[in-house]
Amino acid sequence: MDIEEVSTPALCADLDYLEWNLQTMAERVPGTRLRPHVKAHKMTQLAARQHALGHTGFTCATAREVLGLAEAGLGTDLLLANELLDPLRLSAMARCDARVTIAVDSEETILAAHAAGIDECVIDIRVGFRCGCEVEEAPFLADLARSKGMNVRGVMGYEGHAMGVVDLEKRQDLTHRAMERLLSAHELVGGDLITGAGTGTHLINTWVNEVQAGSYVLMDTAYTSQLDQPFKQALFLQSTVISKAKDFVVCDAGLKAQGMDHGNPTYLDGEIMFCSDEHTNIIPTTPLQVGDQISLVPAHVDPTMAKHEILHLVRGGKVVDQWNIDLRHW
Ligand SMILES: Cc1ncc(COP(=O)(O)O)c(C=O)c1O
Repeated sequence: MDIEEVSTPALCADLDYLEWNLQTMAERVPGTRLRPHVKAHKMTQLAARQHALGHTGFTCATAREVLGLAEAGLGTDLLLANELLDPLRLSAMARCDARVTIAVDSEETILAAHAAGIDECVIDIRVGFRCGCEVEEAPFLADLARSKGMNVRGVMGYEGHAMGVVDLEKRQDLTHRAMERLLSAHELVGGDLITGAGTGTHLINTWVNEVQAGSYVLMDTAYTSQLDQPFKQALFLQSTVISKAKDFVVCDAGLKAQGMDHGNPTYLDGEIMFCSDEHTNIIPTTPLQVGDQISLVPAHVDPTMAKHEILHLVRGGKVVDQWNIDLRHW
């Protein structure tokens, strides 16, 4: 079908750009040095392509992502890079057909994982952003996990506060300082894994031995503002103009169709006024009529994916495939 025939708002990806991004990252961060984060796309069909390129381990943010990858036969080495206390979800992960490793940063998270039957973990270190323990607490937590019979595979530290920094030197500096903490913790904890990093630091973070990048496949406008990124903007949101005023038009993709935490979407041929629940008001540069279709580029890929059920793959103006966003929810 032609792209104009899809029911809008419709989440779409340019298949050529998506494939370019997969290939480009596989050349820059080959094989198992990349542990792609599936939270950025939430699709087993796309994860299978990453797996086929040699990235056989995955990073996950939710139990649903772990269980869905395992069901799809992609469970070679799954890291839940997130703290989890829910006994039901933990035991479902322990039972699933996959190698499952979990991030822990407290006695509580270790005891919950152990009680549910999960036997491998990484110690999550706070390197300046979100979860994680202090460096000094890491050896105590590693000893506790080992005393329960768990395999401590190493350390994790995600430098999320560096990821979106446009200035390269500043991003490098923040990453370096964060990784000094992670390496100190690794000396105390041991294990093979030093895992962290993302799209914004995939080359400049030379301290980790695993890169957890996710956004690179589909991209968003927050990342395209970083000029050092070679990835193409694959994701877009197809929308219909449903109303027209003297100075602006209104289209049918609002904030319920895309993540807004990184700001407004971009419309290449005009200026976004604002988004509301089901609508976006736009001042177009080239006049638009009611019924015209337009493409918006979301500012943040991860929450945008979580709001849709299907991704339409587009090539040459035609929808050539549809992938289920089957790892949604928790
Ligand atoms: C723990 C962790 N690792 C890696 C990433 C991947 O980052 P990106 O999608 O920017 O590549 C994220 C994203 O938030 C994350 O939370």
